Amino acid sequence: MAPRTVVVIGATGLQGGSVVSELLQRPGTYKVRALTREPTKPAAQSLAARGAEVRRADLDVGADALATAFSGAHAIYALTDFWQKQSASAEIAQGKSIADAAARIPTLKHFVWSALPDPEKLSGGRFLKVNHWKSKSLVTEYIQREKPDLWAKTTTILFPNYFENCITSPERYLPVPDANGIYTLSFLHSPDTVMPNVAIADTGKLVRIILEAGSEYFTKTIAFYSQALSEAEKLNALGYNIPTQYRKISADEFQQILESRDGMSAEMAVDFTEQLLIFEEFGNIYAREEFVQAKEIPGLTLRNWADFIRENKFPVKRT
Ligand SMILES: NC(=O)c1ccc[n+]([C@@H]2O[C@H](COP(=O)([O-])OP(=O)(O)OC[C@H]3O[C@@H](n4cnc5c(N)ncnc54)[C@H](OP(=O)(O)O)[C@@H]3O)[C@@H](O)[C@H]2O)c1
Repeated sequence: MAPRTVVVIGATGLQGGSVVSELLQRPGTYKVRALTREPTKPAAQSLAARGAEVRRADLDVGADALATAFSGAHAIYALTDFWQKQSASAEIAQGKSIADAAARIPTLKHFVWSALPDPEKLSGGRFLKVNHWKSKSLVTEYIQREKPDLWAKTTTILFPNYFENCITSPERYLPVPDANGIYTLSFLHSPDTVMPNVAIADTGKLVRIILEAGSEYFTKTIAFYSQALSEAEKLNALGYNIPTQYRKISADEFQQILESRDGMSAEMAVDFTEQLLIFEEFGNIYAREEFVQAKEIPGLTLRNWADFIRENKFPVKRT
């Protein structure tokens, strides 16, 4: 059989980049079409050098142009990046355009949708400001309700906290010296509140296994995480050779830090904080029975935190 074309949105980023890397290792099975707004940027050129077909596509241009970018696709890996515009309405519009375009592709056999759960439903109406979850969940509902033929071949993946966040946002996820020089991780969770975590570099492995499983995961929602861990446990496992401490701070203090240190708007800081409070109040909601558990999928080996810190040269020994 001729290699099947898989179109990857977000190919220059963490999730999509992992999918591209995994599929490029099987050139006899897959042809990868990597979408980017900037085909000339180094990350895109490096994908081309490794064998991907790089195509310009912008999720803001609407379904007609996206349908051209999707033409001939056997499968599509689809994501939206909330944090680019920090706007729920923009993310919903992008997600709907993707779905409208994908629904028009006659060759399409599998649609893999990168999502987050509905915070309102999961929290019984308690948390209403987690826009970057809500907008993705509204797109999921749109596909299910308005595009039944596409939904019939859709697998939804719920993404967790990335282990890689400690590399991309070290000030938020790694300890920093306090006034006494003690390396302190300040977070709003109780020390025993766990969140689902994964090495985002393992996304490609999951997606390949889903594609290989044919119809098995159609219409299913997969909770993608390897370990449920607390930030305090993660800190201890780093194995710093100097004193460290975990400090639980209030949601208000956490929000203020997001604004002053990380430059988030007040609205984004609330959005970010409320998503974490869901785990504090409702536990590991990703473990619920309604979701397929990625760590139980046969043949899928996911890195745990110990693997991740070893591979990324943690613990960082400070003297
Ligand atoms: N960090 C976490 O712990 C976490 C957890 C769960 C879910 N998420 C979700 O993950 C998503 C981000 O995915 P990621 O981590 O892979 O992001 P990333 O590494 O920052 O990459 C973002 C990708 O999106 C593409 N992109 C952005 N806007 C685009 C547009 N208008 N048109 C076409 N492509 C566009 C970029 O492509 P070009 O720049 O090349 O065009 C880039 O490849 C967010 O929606 C976030 O809510 C994150």
